[in-house]
Amino acid sequence: MERKWWKEAVVYEIYPRSFMDSNGDGIGDLQGIISKLDYIRDLGADVIWLCPVYKSPNYDNGYDISDYEDIMAEFGTMSDFEELLTKAHEKGLRIIMDLVVNHTSIEHPWFIENRKSKDNPYRDYYIWRDPVDGHEPNQLESVFEGPAWEYDETADSYYLHLYAKQQPDLNWENPKVKEAVFQLMERWFDRGIDGFRMDVINQISKDYELFDQYVPGKDDLGRTISNGPKAHVYLQEMNERVLSKYDVMTVGETGSVTTEDAKKYTGFDRHELNMLFSFEHMSLDKGDMSRLEVIRVPLGQLRAILSKWQNELHGIAWNSLFYENHDRPRLVSKYGDDTTPFYLEKSAKMLAVLMYMMEGTPYIYQGQEIGMKNPYYQSMEDYRDIHTINRYNLWKDQFDLPTLLHFFGKRSRDNARSPMQWDDTENAGFTTGKPWIKVADSYKEINVKQALADENSIYHFYQKLLKTRKQYDVLLYGKYELILENDPNIYAYYRKLDDETVLVICNYNKEEIAMPDVDLSHAKLILSNYEDQSDTLRAYEARVYFLNKQRS
Ligand code: NOJ
Repeated sequence: MERKWWKEAVVYEIYPRSFMDSNGDGIGDLQGIISKLDYIRDLGADVIWLCPVYKSPNYDNGYDISDYEDIMAEFGTMSDFEELLTKAHEKGLRIIMDLVVNHTSIEHPWFIENRKSKDNPYRDYYIWRDPVDGHEPNQLESVFEGPAWEYDETADSYYLHLYAKQQPDLNWENPKVKEAVFQLMERWFDRGIDGFRMDVINQISKDYELFDQYVPGKDDLGRTISNGPKAHVYLQEMNERVLSKYDVMTVGETGSVTTEDAKKYTGFDRHELNMLFSFEHMSLDKGDMSRLEVIRVPLGQLRAILSKWQNELHGIAWNSLFYENHDRPRLVSKYGDDTTPFYLEKSAKMLAVLMYMMEGTPYIYQGQEIGMKNPYYQSMEDYRDIHTINRYNLWKDQFDLPTLLHFFGKRSRDNARSPMQWDDTENAGFTTGKPWIKVADSYKEINVKQALADENSIYHFYQKLLKTRKQYDVLLYGKYELILENDPNIYAYYRKLDDETVLVICNYNKEEIAMPDVDLSHAKLILSNYEDQSDTLRAYEARVYFLNKQRS
């Protein structure tokens, strides 16, 4: 196993809009992030993944970029960015940026030019089709609901947008597009950044035949728009032209991938990406959608999926380990138990053990480390997310308001976007102004100030866990081996490397159960979410044992 810094690093994701506001305009910003660098480093993170900070009209909070080489005014200036990068590096923190090049904003100069006429020199930068019988060229839908084609009167044609209509898709078949992207990446690397998280990168190559065959409600939209015929060609070219020249890390956001796809995108011998975000374990909370039902993630499915990824990638490619990001609800509200403070604390710690003792690079999303839960907004007025609002408009005649509020309270992207809870003062210490999105009511009890003051807090548990990971090579590179694979309550596995073995045992549920029958002679308990010992496994109890005879 080849050692690499990005295999041993811990990544902390920042959604700048909701992290820390330094100037009282209610929107988080770069100076706000600078003021919290020590907090992030002290947690045990090595890398910050910064969600988009580029110039943007913000139809999708920065994922619609109008200038790849300027900073969004609400967030600051290029000199604030340079200060952030320098200070982060001084503190030993690397920074990776979001690369959003499947689409731009409609306000990007390329798009403004290209829509002027059919013979505009930039026309080929985007994907245009003539109407068919006065309609969209096919039935392809966008991820944010509604058709994936937007009519443009100027030249009587439609442009493709896999996301919002303000996010037109770039045409990667055009060598000039590719070249422009490679060059802007190089310029960011030359400014000193340490890598990229690549937004929906497995959608840059389009399979137009599949688009034509797509039938809404019948076909899998994710599969239709992902992993197009040239995805690997483009990424290998990107690697050869740009990535291979720098010591940087890359993580591709790739919905609808199998482990076979992952081996192609991230295989050590493939020269494409270092790792990817696969979402197979991320939608297990979906219940019966005809009733907008949401369920707690079932242990059996979670275990089967995570085990498959652990087993199949070992020695061939590298996993990323994550539960949360800015598009997904909070971990404790989805896989855990946020119904009482005790259950919240225990389940948050147990879930951290369950995932972050595995092989791969851990990603922690802002607030996860203090056990932030979903804000459970009580009014549709509180929501800001374009996808949530589109869905509400689509569904509001079909479902009653309590059903919709319950569904969005569990699944909306805004569950991750309520402001970071720093303390128990007004607006949770996030801003002195009016926050762009409502602060969750839980901030009085769940906040960083409280977490730092309590030595048994979730924050301190994360700190200990991340330190432990780095102390044992077996936790970084050891082989995963699932045990008790059909147990209804327990998720347990070994990690093995040479003569070192670690055993992880988690009670996924709140009922107290018997300790499983495993050999614990020579075992040393190195991590646990209960302070005292018991013969049983209590509510959401998690234990990590080191089984090496010499060291125990
Ligand atoms: C994935 C990003 O995480 C999400 O926030 C965004 O809306 C879409 N890609 C489109 O860029």
